Amino acid sequence: MGDAYVSRSMSRCRLAMVLFVLGFMVLTCAARNPPATRQKLQVHKHLKRLNKKPVKTIQSPDGDIIDCVHISHQPAFDHPFLKDHKIQMRPDYHPEGLYDDNKVNTESKVKENTIKQLWHVNGMCDEGTIPIRRTKEDDVLRASSVKRYGKKKHTSMAMPNNIPKTADPDLVNQSGHQHAIAYVEGDKFYGAKATMNVWEPKIQQANEFSLSQIWILGGSFGEDLNSIEAGWQVSPDLYGDNNTRLFTYWTSDAYQATGCYNLLCSGFIQINNNIAMGASISPVSGYRNSQYDISILVWKDQKEGNWWMQFGNGYVLGYWPSFLFSYLADSASMIEWGGEVVNSEPDGQHTSTQMGSGRFPEEGFGKASYFRNIQVVDKENNLKAPKDIGTFTEQSNCYDVQTGSNSDWGHYFYYGGPGKNPNCP
Ligand SMILES: *[C@@H]1O[C@H](CO)[C@@H](O)[C@H](O)[C@H]1NC(C)=O
Ligand SMILES: *[C@@H]1O[C@H](CO)[C@@H](O)[C@H](O)[C@H]1NC(C)=O
Repeated sequence: MGDAYVSRSMSRCRLAMVLFVLGFMVLTCAARNPPATRQKLQVHKHLKRLNKKPVKTIQSPDGDIIDCVHISHQPAFDHPFLKDHKIQMRPDYHPEGLYDDNKVNTESKVKENTIKQLWHVNGMCDEGTIPIRRTKEDDVLRASSVKRYGKKKHTSMAMPNNIPKTADPDLVNQSGHQHAIAYVEGDKFYGAKATMNVWEPKIQQANEFSLSQIWILGGSFGEDLNSIEAGWQVSPDLYGDNNTRLFTYWTSDAYQATGCYNLLCSGFIQINNNIAMGASISPVSGYRNSQYDISILVWKDQKEGNWWMQFGNGYVLGYWPSFLFSYLADSASMIEWGGEVVNSEPDGQHTSTQMGSGRFPEEGFGKASYFRNIQVVDKENNLKAPKDIGTFTEQSNCYDVQTGSNSDWGHYFYYGGPGKNPNCP
């Protein structure tokens, strides 16, 4: 399709050549190549770069197209630093001993994760390939620009609301990002884990989103923040629907030039052929109904330096190479767990975009959203309970967080809320 656009505008130019002398022709071509066409060309070029030639294609019931792409043709290898990279097919260390035959998986007593990705009903990708959600023209056109597609909005960098203690109160509300989180800081962290139930929060405006995730953070909240993020999200702008999707994000410069969601830029190296980043998760939890949760573990392979991600109890998805980061090349200085929404304040009122289940923490199990068994990875590569957990929310009347602990759930918290309500106008 990209080629069709080229040839059509070329023939217009040729016509122009007949009618005008050379000097005028240049001007005419520029005028007749309206911005819309130029944008289309740019979009198609971008799509060609992003969508790698599939070995097999699977149509998902939600409208997604999942391309099974040969593992060595994935977007990561567009990165100049990865030209001669040898894929690491398994981590050297695993905090749960997943690759250690003598160790029993500590999670095996928890009932097997029943959550699947929706596209699985129509097929699977073979070993040696990885599933990639195909980017469509409309996906890119919804972004503010081709360059910004797949990236968090610039204003996200005014996300120092992430750092509760040093946040400039005037800045906190400016970006419109609101959080309800638990966090630990003041130590060197080599990973984090949590199990979170999955919901489908309502989004009021297409340019808003609602997500629940783990943040692995290093650096300052100015220009050089390093962040690895993983969880679930609803983002109409990014995906074109209201489905709940598994996602990752990374940045090494506070959401400015580096990083992206999922595999939408080169960086993350995927090794897993079962799980597609950005694909819909199904089923999701219902109010006073069945609860479905997912586990996410992100940890540093301290030998190679890479940051690995695991989904559920057995799906090791792949890794972010150490060289992508500055601070995180060593360790993380802060871990956060919880929810984030964009409140774009349409009409000067708080948005009714929900966080988590859309219910406040005090409603508890079966109604409120939770993170349970939250853990951090220490220097010795052990998962352990976090110490001195703090909580933060910009406006607890809109979205709130409440921590607790017991023998079953370890350290946990309920979080979320409805956004706009009589106490949050
Ligand atoms: C954010 O704005 C709301 C409403 O204007 C205000 O009540 C709240 O205190 C602000 N939060 C912070 C942390 O400044
Ligand atoms: C997403 O949900 C909103 C309401 O919450 C609705 O207005 C919109 O049409 C939905 N978008 C899609 C693509 O289904």
